[in-house]
Amino acid sequence: MIPFNQLKPMHDLLADEIHEALRRVADSGWYILGPEVRAFEAEFAAYHGAARAVGVASGTDAIELALRAGNIGPGDEVITVAHTAMATVTGIESTGARPVLADIDLETYTLDPLRAEAAITERTRAIVVVHLYGQPADMDRLKALAKSRDLLLIEDCAQAHGAQHKDRKVGVIGDMGAFSFYPTKNMGAYGDGGAVITSRPEYAERLVKLRNYGQTTRYTHQTRGTNSRLDEMQAAVLRVKLKHLDEHNARRRAIAALYDAHLQSVVKPASAAHRRHTYHLYVIRDRNRDELMAALKQRDIGTLIHYPIPIHLQESHRNLGLAPGSLPRTEQAAREIVSLPLYIGLGDADVLRVCAEIEKLRG
Ligand SMILES: Cc1ncc(COP(=O)(O)O)c(C=O)c1O
Repeated sequence: MIPFNQLKPMHDLLADEIHEALRRVADSGWYILGPEVRAFEAEFAAYHGAARAVGVASGTDAIELALRAGNIGPGDEVITVAHTAMATVTGIESTGARPVLADIDLETYTLDPLRAEAAITERTRAIVVVHLYGQPADMDRLKALAKSRDLLLIEDCAQAHGAQHKDRKVGVIGDMGAFSFYPTKNMGAYGDGGAVITSRPEYAERLVKLRNYGQTTRYTHQTRGTNSRLDEMQAAVLRVKLKHLDEHNARRRAIAALYDAHLQSVVKPASAAHRRHTYHLYVIRDRNRDELMAALKQRDIGTLIHYPIPIHLQESHRNLGLAPGSLPRTEQAAREIVSLPLYIGLGDADVLRVCAEIEKLRG
């Protein structure tokens, strides 16, 4: 059996370090907004070359609070994609702003800058670009677009920890980078967690207040905020995970290179020039995707679809008014994509077996 994903093998590799971190926090008597969060924020900011990192409770909150720190709210429009996790759109809608969904580029599965430009209206205030599957979007063109139209540019880096566009890590190219530490991510916590990074200290100052009921100093509030804090246990775990992030991303890239070398009969992920893909997911395309998944399941190989129903076709989002056919590349992707097994602890022999089975079925 080759599962699509499992987290235990990575835990087993890091168990001693993780147990030490968890024990340290338990024994400290300090569990919220303490020394581990402060240290993690400094280390995470330094890793990216950002001025500041602010820990929050989830990736969804990171998107919401980054937008609120940038003064986005009711009456504003925010451009993003329909080919993403629902969380991207949830984060936007939590601010009271309206998401405007634009089509993707089918090579990289990320926001097409031309489609983003076409979606701009007089109410547009921000773009949330998603570096989906670990592949950085076309940040040169999106940054130029945001600058020329005076739009806030937020990077949704939930799937792209450590990915690079030219010589910069994702998250520091736009105004703010929003991260999720959901356990399955390239850098996952042992529960929920998130962070926003930025090189603009004024955004960081607002985020620090927003995540803690809008508090400026103890029991003094100048703005309204929420409760969205990264806790000490998660921060301590993430400090361990951050030390191993580059090594884990290198292994993910090695697994992707093996898939690349041994798959011939399906559409493989593009590795766009000057971008360092960190393969949160290895996503192929096949015209008879459902049949391929069923055949692999019979051969004890797990696969998943990220994501089978684009946001604009979800029942919950019919009110956005986008009919089937309105985002053709997003809809084609949703019909044809399938994610293959990829996790720390997956052996080369298993990757080769997945390739062999696919080639037998399709070759
Ligand atoms: C692209 C994307 N954005 C945002 C999120 C939200 O993260 P979280 O689950 O931590 O709220 C996720 C993860 O689920 C994601 O994959």
